[in-house]
Amino acid sequence: MKRWIGAASVLIAGLSATAALAQSGDATRGQRVFNTQCRACHTLEKDGPSPAGPNLHGVFGRKAGTAAGYEFSDAMKNSGIVWDDATMADYNRDPKGKVPGTKMVFNGVKNAGQLADLVAYLKEATK
Ligand code: HEC
Repeated sequence: MKRWIGAASVLIAGLSATAALAQSGDATRGQRVFNTQCRACHTLEKDGPSPAGPNLHGVFGRKAGTAAGYEFSDAMKNSGIVWDDATMADYNRDPKGKVPGTKMVFNGVKNAGQLADLVAYLKEATK
């Protein structure tokens, strides 16, 4: 019985380590998500163009809807969001759910792993 409990706790510890890894996201995989789902409308480099959506350079830590040189919707300007890992994931999972009235025409990244990868990539690539 004791041995069984020992084995079970090793198994549980292993499972939660795997969950933690999945949460933190992989920037290399995230780049693929960005390229296929966001790149048509967004650039990430400093002073990059805003082809349809705003340039996202320096977006982490910034208040939503305040990037210079882009005409945001009132919904985004008044959302009260400050972009961090959690708000970035929430918004990109369901843009219209998180910011009703946003003019970002995008259905959302529904896969939790892809979403975590995307956020990891954005954190690096928007610095
Ligand atoms: C069809 C074009 C389009 C696609 C695809 C798109 N976006 Fe957007 N995005 C926009 C537009 C337009 C806005 C401005 C929204 C507003 O003002 O309501 C925006 C706004 C944003 C903002 C807010 C920026 C700020 O400074 O407040 C973030 C963050 C963002 N998009 C990330 C993404 C990510 C990540 C993806 C891919 C998963 C993506 N977008 C896909 C068009 C798009």
